[in-house]
Amino acid sequence: MGKIADIEAHESKLYSEFAPLYDSIFGKIFYNRLERVIEDLYIPPGAQVLEVGAGTGTSFPAYPTHCNITGVDLAPDMLARARQKIANNGWRHLKVIEMNALDLKFPDNSFDYVMAFHVVTVVPDPVRMIAEAKRVCKPSGRIVIVNHFTSDVPLLGTLTRAVDPLTRWLGWRTDLQLKPFIETTGLIIEKVYKINKTSLYTVVLARKEPNGRYPAREF
Ligand SMILES: C[S@@+](CC[C@H](N)C(=O)[O-])C[C@H]1O[C@@H](n2cnc3c(N)ncnc32)[C@H](O)[C@@H]1O
Repeated sequence: MGKIADIEAHESKLYSEFAPLYDSIFGKIFYNRLERVIEDLYIPPGAQVLEVGAGTGTSFPAYPTHCNITGVDLAPDMLARARQKIANNGWRHLKVIEMNALDLKFPDNSFDYVMAFHVVTVVPDPVRMIAEAKRVCKPSGRIVIVNHFTSDVPLLGTLTRAVDPLTRWLGWRTDLQLKPFIETTGLIIEKVYKINKTSLYTVVLARKEPNGRYPAREF
C-alpha cells in the first residue's frame, strides 16, 4: 500500500473542468448505491447532516426532507451544479458551501451524521479528512463512508495498485486498503458491508467514540 497521506494538493481537473459530464458518467452509476445506504440509515427528523466532497449532489435526492443537509466541496464547478439542483427542486433542507474537507469551518460536535461518499480516495490526506469528520461529528453521531478500497485478494490487489498512477492522474487513488485506513483513523466500526456481493464499493458505518453497543475493538 502507498502511504495513506499524500502531501501534494489534489490537482485533478476532473472535478472542475469536467463537472458538466460528472452526472452523466458517474452520477447515474453512484446514485442507486447512495440511495440504498441513505435509506437504510433511517435518518430521524431534525438530524443535522454534513456531506463532505458532495460534488454535484449525486446523493441529494435520496435524503429525507425532514433533516438538514450541508454539502461541502472544494470544486466550484461541481458546487454550481449542486446549487442548480437545489434550486430546480426547491430543496429547502439542503445547502452547499465551498470548503476544504481537510479544514472544516464548523465547530466541534455539530453534526449527527457525517457522510463521505466516493471521496476518501480523492482527497490528498484521507486520515486528516476523517479526523475533521470526527471532530465535527457529535459524540452520538455516525460517520458513513462509501468507497472502493484495494482488494485483499493478492492478484486483484496487485492489479488495482498497478493502475494507481493512471487513476491518480484522473483524480482518485486505488491503493487505499480498508484495514490500515480504519486502524489509522481510529474509527469505531459499527458495520462494514457491501450493497451486493459483486460490488466494488464498501459501506463503512462508524462512530467517533466507543459506547456500550459499539466498544472499541480490533478491526
Ligand atoms: C468522486 S467525487 C464524489 C462526489 C460525490 N460525493 C458523489 O458521490 O458523487 C469527489 C469529490 O471530492 C471533492 N474534493 C476533492 N478534494 C476535496 C477536499 N479537500 N475538500 C472537499 N472536497 C474535495 C471533489 O471536488 C469532488 O467533487
